[in-house]
Amino acid sequence: MDLSKVIRPNILALAPYSCARDEFKGEASVYIDANESPYENGVNRYPDPLQHSVKALLAPLKGVREEQIFLGNGSDEAIDLIYRIFCEPRIDNVVAISPSYGMYKVCADVNDVAYRPVSLTDDFQLDASALAAQVDERTKVIWICSPNNPSGNAFQLSELEFIVQHFPDQIIVVDEAYIDFSDKGSMLSILDQYENLIVLQTFSKAWGQAAIRCGIAYAQPPIIQYFNRVKYPYNINFLTQQAAVQALSHREVHDRHVEEILSGREILRILLGSLKTVEHIYPSDANFLLVRMKLDGMDAGQSADYVYHYLQNKGIIVRNRTRVHLCQGCLRITVGTPEENATLYETLKTL
Ligand SMILES: Cc1ncc(COP(=O)(O)O)c(C=O)c1O
Repeated sequence: MDLSKVIRPNILALAPYSCARDEFKGEASVYIDANESPYENGVNRYPDPLQHSVKALLAPLKGVREEQIFLGNGSDEAIDLIYRIFCEPRIDNVVAISPSYGMYKVCADVNDVAYRPVSLTDDFQLDASALAAQVDERTKVIWICSPNNPSGNAFQLSELEFIVQHFPDQIIVVDEAYIDFSDKGSMLSILDQYENLIVLQTFSKAWGQAAIRCGIAYAQPPIIQYFNRVKYPYNINFLTQQAAVQALSHREVHDRHVEEILSGREILRILLGSLKTVEHIYPSDANFLLVRMKLDGMDAGQSADYVYHYLQNKGIIVRNRTRVHLCQGCLRITVGTPEENATLYETLKTL
C-alpha cells in the first residue's frame, strides 16, 4: 500500500512537536531541560512519551514488535486519531458494519467525515458484497468490530482476512476490544502480512483496567509512526503506564478473570434461556450477551423497554439496545460476578 495515497496531505507534511526527552536519551544526573519541578514526589517528571516499559511487556505477550504498537488514551483516542490521520473532512468517507460500536460514528461526525453504515445480515454476519457496494475512491477506512458490540459474535479470521485482501487501498480497522473472550483468534496473527491493517485492543475489558484509559493500536511501523506524530506528546500519563505494567506483570489475574467470565457467560446463558420472557440469546464471543425479550401482550420493543425499567427500579442496570439497527427487543447484558448474575436471574424470574 502506498501510504501517501491514504494519509491526509497535512499529516504527511506535519512537523511533530519535539519534546525535551526526544532530544536527549540516556542517563544524566541533572535534568533541567523540561521546566519540570525539581522536587521529587513520584510524579514531578513528564512520563515516557512512547511508553517503552508498557510496550516491552505487551510486545512479547502479543507476538509483535514494540514499533508495531501505539498506546492511546483508551481505544477511543486511537479511533479519533484514525480519522485525523487518514480522512479529509467533507471529502473522504468511511464504511462501517452496522450495528457496531457507537464511537466510530461519533468520531466521524466530530471530524466531519461521511459515515456509511453497512448492515450485517439478520444473524449479524458480514456481507462482503454489501460492504463493497459502499466503498469508492474516497473511502479511507473500513471499520469492523470482532467480537462485535452489541451483537457479541466474532467473525471468522478467514472472512476478515478476505476483506483486508479485497480492499488493499483502504485501511481496515478490526476492533478487538473483546478478543480475550473469543476462541476465534486474533488478527494479530497476520499483522505482519498486511500494510493496510490496524488492530485495536484495550486494557478496559479483560484486563480489568477501564479506569486507567489505555487502548492499543497495532499496525506495521509506518502507520504507527503517523499515530505517534499526531498524538499529544504525553498522551499516556505516568500513573496509567504504571498500572498497565502492573496488570501485564500479573497475567495470571487476567487469565483467571477471563476463565471466570467465560464460565459465568455460559451459566448466564443457560439461566436466561430458561425464562419464558427471554425469546432469544445471541451467540456470544464477548463478555456480554445480547438478549431479545418478549412479554405477553407487548411487542419486542415494548418488552425490552419494560424489562429495562423494571430492572432499573430494582437497581440493576443493563444496556437497552432496542432502538439499535437489527436489535429490536434486545438488552445487552454484561457478564458480572456469579453473585451479580444470580441476582439478575432471580430478579427476572419474578417479572
Ligand atoms: C468495540 C469497542 N471498542 C472500544 C471500546 C472502548 O474501549 P476503551 O475503553 O479502550 O476506549 C469499547 C467500549 O465499550 C467497545 O465496545
